[in-house]
Amino acid sequence: MTFGLDSGVTPRQVHAITRELSPAIARCELTHLAREPLDYARALAQHASYEQLLAALGMHVTRLPAEPDLPDAVFVEDTAIVLDELAVITHPGAPARRPEVTAVEGALRRWRSLVHIKPPATLDGGDVLQVGRTLYVGLSSRSNQAAATQLRQLLSPLEYRVETVEVRGCLHLKSAVTAVNAALLVLNPAWCDQAAFGDIAKVEIDPTEAFAANVLHLDDGVIMDAAYPKTAARLRSQGVVVRTLDLSELAKAEGAVTCCSLVFSVGTHGTA
Ligand code: GLY
Repeated sequence: MTFGLDSGVTPRQVHAITRELSPAIARCELTHLAREPLDYARALAQHASYEQLLAALGMHVTRLPAEPDLPDAVFVEDTAIVLDELAVITHPGAPARRPEVTAVEGALRRWRSLVHIKPPATLDGGDVLQVGRTLYVGLSSRSNQAAATQLRQLLSPLEYRVETVEVRGCLHLKSAVTAVNAALLVLNPAWCDQAAFGDIAKVEIDPTEAFAANVLHLDDGVIMDAAYPKTAARLRSQGVVVRTLDLSELAKAEGAVTCCSLVFSVGTHGTA
């Protein structure tokens, strides 16, 4: 289903692909977290609030149906990298997650031509951070050097630069660092090497909020989990507009704000 502002012809429409929470979410993959009881009704409500916030911000939200046999399918970010010119369909690192790509691929075909990461490469979208024309690829338990090499081969002709970054202690590169905008990162220095990002300005998370570096950037600010008020204050002190919401149940599934959507523009191209 789709919802959000649908004003007909617009010069630039921001789309978000989401997927309804799987009733099997309690069986999700977990790498760095211990399994905790997950309140499905509460998780559903939190996810719905997330979609409503994206729609309220003017995005056209396309929600894919739930996948009863794919516990992690709500985390659509891992299935594709959507650039202005094309979309890269990933080959997720967790074998159980690989069937998730099919429905996302079907949806994206409407807006982008598609290219594919192929084995032996493995890549989760959560390991790919775009900053302008540079894609930083996290080398993690999910994404490997072969994926970075394939991405480079696919995207060099489009004048993208692909760099690798070691990830330690967390699931994905975007657990450790995300972009507030093309000139500012928010980062947990314990989980990645700051030097990998050169002289781009950085805000470090508050050390008591290890998971706070995952923010979803918008044209005018970011969305982040309300669980990290000290890091939110650090961002606000830099003039960043921060909108917060509660995703505490999805956090138990090792998910966060960027994981739950694929956001991209259609129409006049801007910085994705
Ligand atoms: N549960 C999120 C993931 O492991 O991919």
